[in-house]
Amino acid sequence: MISTNQRFYGEVVEGLSATPKYLQSKYFYDKNGDDLFQRIMRCPEYYLTRCEEEIFSLQSHDIAGSVKSYLKDFEVIGLGAGDGSKSAYLLKEFLNQKLADTYYPVDISANIIQLLEENIPKDIVGLKVKGFHGEYIEMLRNIRQFSNKRKIIFFLGSNVGNYRPDQAIRFCCEMHECMNAGDLLLIGFDLKKNPQVILDAYSDKQGLTKDFNLNLLTRINRELGGNFKLGNFDHYAMYDPVSGACKSFLVSLKNQQVKMGSDFSADFSPNEIIQMEISQKYSIEAIDVLAERSGFKVLGKFYDSKKWFTDCLWQKV
Ligand code: AVI
Repeated sequence: MISTNQRFYGEVVEGLSATPKYLQSKYFYDKNGDDLFQRIMRCPEYYLTRCEEEIFSLQSHDIAGSVKSYLKDFEVIGLGAGDGSKSAYLLKEFLNQKLADTYYPVDISANIIQLLEENIPKDIVGLKVKGFHGEYIEMLRNIRQFSNKRKIIFFLGSNVGNYRPDQAIRFCCEMHECMNAGDLLLIGFDLKKNPQVILDAYSDKQGLTKDFNLNLLTRINRELGGNFKLGNFDHYAMYDPVSGACKSFLVSLKNQQVKMGSDFSADFSPNEIIQMEISQKYSIEAIDVLAERSGFKVLGKFYDSKKWFTDCLWQKV
């Protein structure tokens, strides 16, 4: 079987050999990347977390009520579980209403899974927590072998936005294949809004998003023997209000060669970019099309007071 590090190396080589060059944002999340993302979530420009937190803090009772009319005795899977603070509102509701007492957080970051396994049972007494560290679909398949109870999957925080729209359809179809008919999915989308608000969220004044992107170069240096010089790259974010794509790039500031171990090197010309991340913003219509194309029925939508973000309840039909 291919090891995590071999896969990381292979995907970095593939991305840096492509035209234009790219790196996959799923690799942002090592220990330092997790810490930077926590700081981004608290920074003034990054509204997404506050909007979704508002939905969960004020509407968890209603969301649990909706869920209860479709499923009574189930387990919860948290895909891209993050720090778990938003899910905690709903997990507490499910536990109190005796609907679910088991939570399987799934994350690409081993560090996050370890923290969640330690902390959630202290915060939500009585909840059983078993973490799965790895790629989402692989872990969904593992969980399916592990337990055949009814499930609700949480895919919160606009994680689906980190896929291009065509990839998002494919990903939702893959999730659909890992579910049983009647199982539920609670999925978060960042909605289209004033373009400047969106752009500011991905080019914050403190430079946290820049550091978050550059941290992947540090990770490549440490884990794959790279020699990226961070000062030779700048960060550039752009938002296209027509397509809803918010994209982050690193820009090479000079002619340079970067090596990774003894077998790989990449040449950069001045101003050459590396595509780092997409954070797709959705219209309500586009969300409904995504649900339909991937085989889900839309059961409900929960919004924050500004209608900047929505968590949607879908059912596998
Ligand atoms: C995890 N994901 C939904 C975040 C986003 O908004 O795309 C990651 C992020 N990138 C820059 N800031 C936050």
